[in-house]
Amino acid sequence: MFTLTLRDFQDARARIDAHITRTPVLTSRQLSELTGFDVRLKAEMFQRVGSYKIRGPLNKFALMPEEQKRRGVVCSSAGNHAQGVALAARIHGIRAVVCMAENATRSKIAATKAYGAEVVLHGRIWDEANEKAKELVRTEGLTYVHPFDDEQLIAGQGTLGLEIVQDWPEVDAVVVPIGGGGLISGVAMAVKGHNPRIQVIGVESSDGPAMKLSVETGRLETIDCRTVIDGLRVQRVGEITFSVVQRFVDEVVALPDRDIFDAMLWVMERCKLVVEGAAAAPVAAMLHGLVRLPAGARVVGVLSGGNVNLDQLRGLTWN
Ligand SMILES: Cc1ncc(COP(=O)(O)O)c(C=O)c1O
Repeated sequence: MFTLTLRDFQDARARIDAHITRTPVLTSRQLSELTGFDVRLKAEMFQRVGSYKIRGPLNKFALMPEEQKRRGVVCSSAGNHAQGVALAARIHGIRAVVCMAENATRSKIAATKAYGAEVVLHGRIWDEANEKAKELVRTEGLTYVHPFDDEQLIAGQGTLGLEIVQDWPEVDAVVVPIGGGGLISGVAMAVKGHNPRIQVIGVESSDGPAMKLSVETGRLETIDCRTVIDGLRVQRVGEITFSVVQRFVDEVVALPDRDIFDAMLWVMERCKLVVEGAAAAPVAAMLHGLVRLPAGARVVGVLSGGNVNLDQLRGLTWN
């Protein structure tokens, strides 16, 4: 069964060290007062590309055989994964192709191109773009980079957990958003490698709780996913990530999109940090009492990214 040790994360961290930012773990007096815990926030929106998503691809490409690197890589995503793969590939001198649906946001296409990737627009939904990516694997020999269900990718994403325990070794619990489960898989194994008693709590949208349902039924479920929060939107989590979550995650909680959006604004207003929806999910869970721990518990919420479209703020009259 796929399991990584603290040493594996230390090795991955060393492999990617030169190319990432060490993001801070910030205190939050307001969140601490409201919850009764000692809350700190891992501010990963300050990471290169604006989210943790560069960590995994950097680790994967550092381990990739030269022959595969020469042929290049492909992924399908209109979000953070695209930008993480694009910049990591450029750093490693690898050709990267990103497949997106034809209706992808112009700014996301532009950002991905700016990081040096070739963007191929195909189909109207992610599944169709993904089919195109698979076709390029067959026809051009590119290596497919999965957004979450990949062992080397999980090792890279988990370096975020390693940094948490290095910066706050006494931490009691870590609260992490879940989409396909790649981030929490890495973080859970890393923090439990440091201290198996650290609680790991995952947060999903109840408008698309693919992991929570799978954990409850004990098998991989495919759901009708209605969340509009892109980092949390999957119909089915991964085989690897499901197995890791079953073994290393203590609890998965879920709350509706609207509560997560409220928390997004709460973090922006109170903490002065720009977070995207997925990143606000751990704070939402804390504000709604879904994180049940003894008073005074030392808790880290992972603010996993800050790539949110703030266009709606334009044109407002300020006072
Ligand atoms: C900002 C952000 N947070 C959390 C997640 C969820 O990560 P995972 O799919 O590895 O569970 C994503 C996924 O895209 C994301 O972009």
